[in-house]
Amino acid sequence: MRVAVLASGNGSNFEAIAQAFETQAIQGELVLLFSDRKDAYVLERAKKYQIPRFSFSPKDFASKKQYEAALRDLLLTNQIDFVVLAGYMRIIGQDLLETFPNRILNIHPSLLPSFPGLHGIKDAYDYGVKLTGITIHFVDAGVDTGPIVAQAAVEITNEDTLATLEEKIHQLEHHWYPRVIADITQKGVK
Ligand code: GRF
Repeated sequence: MRVAVLASGNGSNFEAIAQAFETQAIQGELVLLFSDRKDAYVLERAKKYQIPRFSFSPKDFASKKQYEAALRDLLLTNQIDFVVLAGYMRIIGQDLLETFPNRILNIHPSLLPSFPGLHGIKDAYDYGVKLTGITIHFVDAGVDTGPIVAQAAVEITNEDTLATLEEKIHQLEHHWYPRVIADITQKGVK
């Protein structure tokens, strides 16, 4: 399976995924990394792993539709079968969803449907829940709403600060995201 990762930021999940391809824990090929932010650190990580990297932003286009058309072209030209979002901070538009039905996966740092949106970890911490976690789900037209594939939970203890909780969540992500991607891409997608 030919896989592309889309990311906007730091890229620690991208790196966990790239390592899993390198050790063949995920079979198939990590074909490219795309970032909508030209200054994203994830681009440095892709360079280190010698993964072809591409970057353009909606600002480079007259409309969001044209941006997405360019992204779609990039994915189709590279014969991508499966798209993994790893901290990609944009809604996926209808054209891309239709081009890759059930073939776009996302990770969110809370137990959905609790705490969707941009600040899943902080929102759970501030609310005072005792259990939070991560959710891996297929992407649909909503924000953090698509069919759930896997979840993993972690306790928030009295000793936790927002920083220690963030660390726990990222560890869970780096452990589970590559494994779930391996599982899905190996089984094949419907
Ligand atoms: C992760 O917490 C992920 O759940 C969310 O964005 C963050 C990306 O982190 N969607 P990184 O860029 O992979 O380090």
